[in-house]
Amino acid sequence: MSANAEVLKQHLIDPEICIRCNTCEETCPVDAITHNDDNYVVDATKCNFCMACISPCPTGSIDNWRTVLKPAAYSVDEQFTWDELPAEKEVDGGLLEAEALTPIDAAEAADDEKALELDSSQLADPLSGAQVPPWSASHPYVNLYGHKAPVTATVAGNFRVTALGTDSDTHHIVLDFGSTPFPVLEGQSIGILPPGVDARGKAHHARQYSIASPRDGERSGYNNVSLTVKRVTTDYDGRAVRGVASNYVCDLKKGDEVRIIGPFGTSFLMPNHPNANLIMVCTGTGSAPMRAMTERRRRRVDLNEGGKLMLFFGARTQRELPYFGPLMNLPKEFIDINFAFSREEGHVDGAPKRYVQHLMRERSADVGALLQDDNTYFYVCGLKGMEAGVLDALKDICVGRSIDWPALHAQMKREGRLHFETY
Ligand code: A2P
Repeated sequence: MSANAEVLKQHLIDPEICIRCNTCEETCPVDAITHNDDNYVVDATKCNFCMACISPCPTGSIDNWRTVLKPAAYSVDEQFTWDELPAEKEVDGGLLEAEALTPIDAAEAADDEKALELDSSQLADPLSGAQVPPWSASHPYVNLYGHKAPVTATVAGNFRVTALGTDSDTHHIVLDFGSTPFPVLEGQSIGILPPGVDARGKAHHARQYSIASPRDGERSGYNNVSLTVKRVTTDYDGRAVRGVASNYVCDLKKGDEVRIIGPFGTSFLMPNHPNANLIMVCTGTGSAPMRAMTERRRRRVDLNEGGKLMLFFGARTQRELPYFGPLMNLPKEFIDINFAFSREEGHVDGAPKRYVQHLMRERSADVGALLQDDNTYFYVCGLKGMEAGVLDALKDICVGRSIDWPALHAQMKREGRLHFETY
């Protein structure tokens, strides 16, 4: 080992495939992953090869390695400038790639060097949700089309799904792939390549959107998908900005052509076996995968496959809740719908808001009963802030029923029964 100690398999992210979804940065337990406006990169001085980031990455762009001499490892600043990964270089001294420190060797070496620097919380599993799909999920196809060969879809429709006159301008967009194969499953996402270039003259990066339609198409038997996209007009701090991709998508007209990559996603998938219960928790456009799963189940309702559907859906007001009308038309015996409106008329600024996690607590008897069923699958999609609130609610519901939440949480993750997609 000591003869090769200066050689490293450096962990890198392929900027051509990465869809800048931030999953890796959120997942990394030692903060080795960072980003600028261009790229997501791995800091070789921090990465301890724990591999926690590998499987959550929806594209596989995270799984790239180059053999380098340790002191000549690519710096973070250098990686920020890349449009593509550098070719594998011959390492000085003619060391063969096979002789280089493998990630696992390096992990052991890194353990020696760095373990003392890490406290136990950094080494704990950083993910709240599962990295594996439900056991009965169908096989997902991923990365069929990449940046170099995107597929072109035609806009078949674009409808606003929130009331006019509200701040939430959310659209339902249907994209048709014609005769080009684009197989998807509920819970998967696609990347849209906005036309044009950014302020630096570089092509815009792909933006990831969850698919809102079931696997057999927005309209059954059609080779199309739908998306739920909210027009971005402010940044996280409330300053006015014009979101490049969301404005492009929300302004699309029937017949327009759109460049698409994907599909992506291998774990946020629905079970296919009879009697599987789905608990779905979402805010705003996080409703897209829930719509896809609900519609899949609705189309199969005559098969009497069993299993309950429970939905917790949060929005500012009823008028700003995407698909409010169609949701209200679903029979109560088919789906148990719970809306949380945070800014409904009468709400006073500063007063406590009603969020999805509050509704879950109100329905704790039913949520708790479902949690005690091994056939229950739990999905959360929407605002990042909701994640902690939902986990707290789950914990309290379990405590109230003498369920060992830490054990159940670990089991649900292991069995692909608890999924988060937040942004
Ligand atoms: P609010 O923004 O009134 O605090 P948006 O319309 O921005 O997509 O948000 C959808 C809904 O999610 C809104 O009702 C919003 O409430 C709510 N929300 C905001 N923060 C959280 C949170 N931490 N947990 C749950 N819901 C939240």
